[in-house]
Amino acid sequence: MSDFIIDVAPVQGHTDAAWRHFHKSIYGGCQSYYTPFIRLERGDFRKHDLKDYTSELNGNHEVAAQVIFRDMAELRPLIEGLEERGVKRIDLNTGCPFPLQTAKGRGAGFIANREEYFRIPSLLKEHGDVEFSLKMRLGYSDPDEWRGVMPAISDMPLKHVTLHPRVARQQYGGDLYLDRFGDFLKACPHPVVFNGDIRTPEDIERAKTSFPGIAGVMTARGVLGRPSLIAEFEEGKEWSREQRLEKMLHFHRELLCHYESTLCGDSQILSKIKPFWEYAEEEIGRKAWKAVKKASNIAKYHSAVAMI
Ligand SMILES: Cc1cc2nc3c(=O)[nH]c(=O)nc-3n(C[C@H](O)[C@H](O)[C@H](O)COP(=O)(O)O)c2cc1C
Repeated sequence: MSDFIIDVAPVQGHTDAAWRHFHKSIYGGCQSYYTPFIRLERGDFRKHDLKDYTSELNGNHEVAAQVIFRDMAELRPLIEGLEERGVKRIDLNTGCPFPLQTAKGRGAGFIANREEYFRIPSLLKEHGDVEFSLKMRLGYSDPDEWRGVMPAISDMPLKHVTLHPRVARQQYGGDLYLDRFGDFLKACPHPVVFNGDIRTPEDIERAKTSFPGIAGVMTARGVLGRPSLIAEFEEGKEWSREQRLEKMLHFHRELLCHYESTLCGDSQILSKIKPFWEYAEEEIGRKAWKAVKKASNIAKYHSAVAMI
C-alpha cells in the first residue's frame, strides 16, 4: 500500500457520517475522511456536531474531527472536549472563507490574528496523544500572507498541512496560485497535501508530477461529483461512464434508504439527499441534474434519478 495520502475533504452539508460511511462501504479505498467543521456555540459543543462525530456509521472509516475557532479560548475547550470523547485525530480549519465565520475571526479570518496564531504550537504540544493536522489557504486576500505565520506552522506538531492555494476572497473559484503552492511546499517542514480542483484521476497524477514533494491530495467537490474518483486512481485506470453511474446510483440509493429510515417526511428527506447531487452535473447530465434539483417530493426525485 502506497503512503501517498488521499483525503476526502470536509464539506458542510455533504460529507456527513452517512455519506462517509456509504462512500467507504461502496467504493472501498485507503482514503481518510474529515467531519465538517465543529465549532462552539455559546461556549459548548453543538449537538448536531457531536452526533456526526459519535455516529456508529463512523465505524468503517478513518475520520478526523475538524474544528474551527477564533482564539485559544475556543480552541482549548474544543480539543479538550474532543479528547475526553476519545478523539485521536483533530484537524484545524484555518481556511474556511464563509463570511459568517471569517467575520468572527474564524477559518481564513484567523490568519490576521497573529498573536493568537503564534499561541497554537504550545497548546497543541500540551496534547501529545492527539494527532493534529492543519487545513489552510494562502491568506485572506494576499497570497503571500502565509509567509508571516510560517514560523508558527513550523513549530506546530503536525501530521501534515493541507493547502488550498487560493485566498479566501476567491471563495471556490478563480485561478489556483500554483507558484505560491510551490513556495509553500519548499518552506514548510511538514508533509504538505495539495487541495483544489482535483476532479479526475489525471488531476491527481498531474498534482504528483507538478509537485513531486507533496505527501498527498485532498478532494472535495471532485469526489462529491464523481464518487469513484479515488477508486479509479487507486486501480490505475478510469472506469467507463456506465460503470461509474451504476455504482453512483447504488451509492445514492443507500443514502436515500438510510435517510428514509432516520428522517420523517419528503421535505426533510429531500433537503438532506438532494445536495448530495450538487456537484454531479457533469457526471449525470444537465437534464437529470436539474430535475433532481427541482424534485418536490420523493416520487419526483425517483423520476429525476431514473433519467440518469
Ligand atoms: C459547500 C462547501 C462546504 C465546505 N465545508 C468545509 C468544511 O466544513 N471544512 C473545511 O475545511 N472545508 C470546507 N470546504 C472546503 C473544501 O474542503 C475544499 O477545501 C475546497 O472545496 C477546495 O477543494 P475542491 O476544489 O476539491 O472542492 C467546503 C467547501 C464547500 C464548497
